Amino acid sequence: MIETTLDDGTAVRLRRLGPDDRDGLAEGYRLLSPESRYQRFWVRTGETIGEGMLDRILGNDPVNHAVWAVLDPAREYPGVGAGSWWRSREDPDEAEFSCTVLDADQRRGVGTLLLAAAWVDAMAAGVRRFVGYTMPENVTAVRWMRDTGAAAEWDGYKVIFRWNLDDLESIPPTTPGVALAGRLAELAGRVAAVGGD
Ligand SMILES: CC(C)(COP(=O)(O)OP(=O)(O)OC[C@H]1O[C@@H](n2cnc3c(N)ncnc32)[C@H](O)[C@@H]1OP(=O)(O)O)[C@@H](O)C(=O)NCCC(=O)NCCS
Repeated sequence: MIETTLDDGTAVRLRRLGPDDRDGLAEGYRLLSPESRYQRFWVRTGETIGEGMLDRILGNDPVNHAVWAVLDPAREYPGVGAGSWWRSREDPDEAEFSCTVLDADQRRGVGTLLLAAAWVDAMAAGVRRFVGYTMPENVTAVRWMRDTGAAAEWDGYKVIFRWNLDDLESIPPTTPGVALAGRLAELAGRVAAVGGD
């Protein structure tokens, strides 16, 4: 577990989720707005996450997948957001990154902190690129992915973003770009050392 602070001074914890986090993750899913749930999971099946989805997200396969959470221990329900990476079967240099932050906690730097944790973690597992998918109407995610240095491509249906994990020069001097570079420096070495605790 890594202890850090958000820019507004809130003390938060960053850690990898595992099989013991089923209840917490199911509650976080329930707390998302229908819109955020759809934007992240692409389903409109209500507030209950399926058991199969929980198995998939929390499965222990650190070479190919991890899910990171930002937790605020001062709250009754501490989950603030979660971000995950999944290595591609076709191209082991690439992993899909996806992220969700509770609606009321967006625009506090949590998504960028999760991207940085996943970035350092996946790079240590040999991943070279992250790919993220979003619908073009999800302008918040489109802007955030672009502003953290991802290059966009349009397949006629969704927007496909790619971050080159070993190219820190491609991170632009935007607010989330500067925050990302700072978080990458902060987390280098720490994620591998203490991530699972
Ligand atoms: C997209 C998403 C993950 C971003 O998470 P977030 O926690 O709001 O991200 P951040 O706060 O790090 O950055 C978002 C914006 O807040 C601003 N911001 C404010 N304070 C900030 C801070 N302290 N640090 C970094 N960014 C900050 C940034 O400038 C950024 O603005 P921009 O995107 O207009 O350039 C979030 O909106 C979300 O969960 N959406 C629903 C699910 C979804 O669409 N997921 C994406 C597809 S997987």
